[in-house]
Amino acid sequence: MKPAAAPPVLPLEAGPQQSHRRSRVKGLVLIFLALVLFLVSFPDLGPFPRLLPGPLGREQDFKSGCTQPEPLHPSKDSGLDKVFDQISSSAFRNATIRRLSAAVQVKTESFDDLGAIGKDPRWDVFYDFHQYLEDTFPLIHKTLHVEKVNTHGLLYTWQGSDESLKPTLLLAHQDTVPVPPETISSWTYPPWSGEYDGKYIWGRGASDCKNQLIAAMETLELLLEADFTPKRTVLLSFGFDEECSGTLGASKLAAVIQKRYGKDGIAVIVDEGSGFEQAWGTLFAKPGTAEKGYTDVHITVRMPGGHSSIPSDHTSIGILSELITKIEAEQYRTRLVDSNPYYTQLQCGAAYSPEFPSKLKKLLGHRRQGHNTCKAKPDRLAIEAAKQGPEIKYLMQTSQAVDVISGGIKVNALPERATVVVNHRINIGETTQVVQDKLTRLAGEVAKKHNLTLHAFDGQEEPSSVILEPSTYELEAAPVTPADGSGVSPFSVLAGTTRALYGEGVVVTPGIMTGNTDTRYYWALTRHIFRFAPGFDPEDGAGLGSIHTVNERVSVLNHVNSVRWFMLFVRNMDEAEL
Ligand SMILES: *[C@@H]1O[C@H](CO)[C@@H](O)[C@H](O)[C@H]1NC(C)=O
Ligand SMILES: *[C@@H]1O[C@H](CO)[C@@H](O)[C@H](O)[C@H]1NC(C)=O
Ligand SMILES: [Zn+2]
Repeated sequence: MKPAAAPPVLPLEAGPQQSHRRSRVKGLVLIFLALVLFLVSFPDLGPFPRLLPGPLGREQDFKSGCTQPEPLHPSKDSGLDKVFDQISSSAFRNATIRRLSAAVQVKTESFDDLGAIGKDPRWDVFYDFHQYLEDTFPLIHKTLHVEKVNTHGLLYTWQGSDESLKPTLLLAHQDTVPVPPETISSWTYPPWSGEYDGKYIWGRGASDCKNQLIAAMETLELLLEADFTPKRTVLLSFGFDEECSGTLGASKLAAVIQKRYGKDGIAVIVDEGSGFEQAWGTLFAKPGTAEKGYTDVHITVRMPGGHSSIPSDHTSIGILSELITKIEAEQYRTRLVDSNPYYTQLQCGAAYSPEFPSKLKKLLGHRRQGHNTCKAKPDRLAIEAAKQGPEIKYLMQTSQAVDVISGGIKVNALPERATVVVNHRINIGETTQVVQDKLTRLAGEVAKKHNLTLHAFDGQEEPSSVILEPSTYELEAAPVTPADGSGVSPFSVLAGTTRALYGEGVVVTPGIMTGNTDTRYYWALTRHIFRFAPGFDPEDGAGLGSIHTVNERVSVLNHVNSVRWFMLFVRNMDEAEL
């Protein structure tokens, strides 16, 4: 930008009378200049845009907030490069199609109402799945230590030669969400057919996440075939109830691993998660390094019953409605803390993306210079970024959704209870306490107005009261995985591997998961947890649109690329000095 406009030109000839006027004009000009100088130095205090060229908006500065490691190729054991080439062969492609397709054909649905293992026969499908894996990956089952944890959890240990190195741990889950029978007819191919149509493999679990499980197994089988001997132990841990809580699978597997290797005893964890995304003209790989928290709150209004012909002015349903209206009228703050991975993604966009919006870049520049970090002030950067759409806004805001309501049983009886459930996903940098505080305050106002007692999260209730209760399942936001690409770190290995495979045009930035994976049970094992779907098919984009709904599928190229990625990653981790 150009410097400030010059002051107005003064008349050349000045008489004695004019000289007095001239000095007044001079004074005004000086004051004007001083004001301009002041505003230029403190752009946030005035209404004018920043005028002096500063570090603001220079790509170089944003790059320091989004360091991209060099592509990382394994350097030792070059004999293994043949194995890598093998993955690109037509024979491997044909074989992998058969393997993944057959894995999809083993129907491993998990249900919310499953009974005990051994009692409820619906668990027994996992015996079939184990048999399938044994038949398909003979070398793994011959060479690795295989454990069944809590009957159906699978833990494979490939012991490394150097016990001082912390293991690499790859996760996936064996189960899939169920297919509701009424939707079967809407599938292009039957949901457990594993149909291959020349490009995609179709079926429930094809992309969530039997593809990831099979890719990890295929990688190890290939490495065993090539006589690779790891220095760093490699673990595979496959739960079997991820889609309905993980309490029987991942939770027990994580406990076994923690007992063996201790707290912080694992070098890195890669689980299913987010993949690739086009934004602002750039292709981003977005391994999930953070997960929002979660809580459902049950709100109940209790009122005396009675005949509906002599009602009170407000029934429990009316009062609950009033509270719901208040809750919805007050959204949580849009706020982007420095540790939120989306803050890094914005810096990556500013540094590398041709179409990154200039307004965002300006706000980001102020933020990097330490402006606008005051906690009480509205977060202008977050508010501007949120304008991109709700899917972006909720990366930076606690969400609330009133999802379930019940109350009243008979049209001529006053309802004694009315209950609502509000679902929340907690923002990075906030806790479930933020939700409890807000709901307690608003419920308190409504209770007072209607002369009801408030029981906020105290485990009690009584007639004529408003009751707040947390859900049984509540989870704080996950610890954020470090994602600085500048030194040697698990993130650098992961990002370097990704850029080695897909090219330096790919910018690797940490991402946020709005849902949770099995990793919620593994937090104590390492700070370096990545929820990442490493397969990318340029013609298919991210390819995640079909998860949990009809026509779930994965492109074969996506799958083959994820095997390539795991192959490089396992070797790179083996060589990394971590
Ligand atoms: C892979 O399958 C295709 C299609 O069935 C076939 O044409 C091709 O020969 C197969 N490749 C190998 C190496 O078996
Ligand atoms: C409020 O409730 C209390 C006890 O539940 C009762 O004693 C009192 O009279 C009520 N006040 C009003 C204004 O209804
Ligand atoms: Zn999944």
